[in-house]
Amino acid sequence: IKFFEMVKKKTCVFISGKGSNLRSLIKFSRNYNFPISVNLIVTNNRNAKGLNYAKINSIPYLIIDVKKRNYELKILNALKKNKISLICLAGFMKILSKKFISEFRKKIINIHPSLLPKFKGLNTYERILKKKEKRSGCTVHYIDEKLDNGKIILQKFFFIQDRYGINELKEKTQNLEYKSFSEALIKIYRYTNF
Ligand code: GAR
Repeated sequence: IKFFEMVKKKTCVFISGKGSNLRSLIKFSRNYNFPISVNLIVTNNRNAKGLNYAKINSIPYLIIDVKKRNYELKILNALKKNKISLICLAGFMKILSKKFISEFRKKIINIHPSLLPKFKGLNTYERILKKKEKRSGCTVHYIDEKLDNGKIILQKFFFIQDRYGINELKEKTQNLEYKSFSEALIKIYRYTNF
């Protein structure tokens, strides 16, 4: 009998806040046939609640100080040291420089709580409700040097009910995000083998 063991892509997740997408990725990554493992967590916010998921799962993490000039270099070194070959941005509220992107050279993907190219940037839910959109959802995409730009990997949507305020819209969107992130990873594994 031959056993084929999947070699999981060593992944680094970047967060700035709650880390619920990180939590979901860690959970999915425990399935034996899920294509990634979470091996490093990077944050620009030392008080990010999501750091707890690093601690309780014993995953190494790096807190960076974006006021220091060389912070991207610090990240690049940690990525190298931990043999990271994929970055997932999960609520990382900082733009990575062109230089960082070209020096990492491997794939970087992001999740955004709207149907891109609509509603790039911040305060997404407020703007969606203000515009009285009929539908919303989330997008997983590759990143490039422009904000919330880059090739779309996967998008999922739902219809916005009249009764939705920010909390309902956010809850609905984030529940869809967890599914979308994992499906997007399976999709890029299947079609590009990363
Ligand atoms: C997510 O909903 C993500 O789509 C959004 O931040 C949230 C982080 O939540 N990202 C952006 O708005 C990026 N432009 P989490 O920390 O609970 O995963």
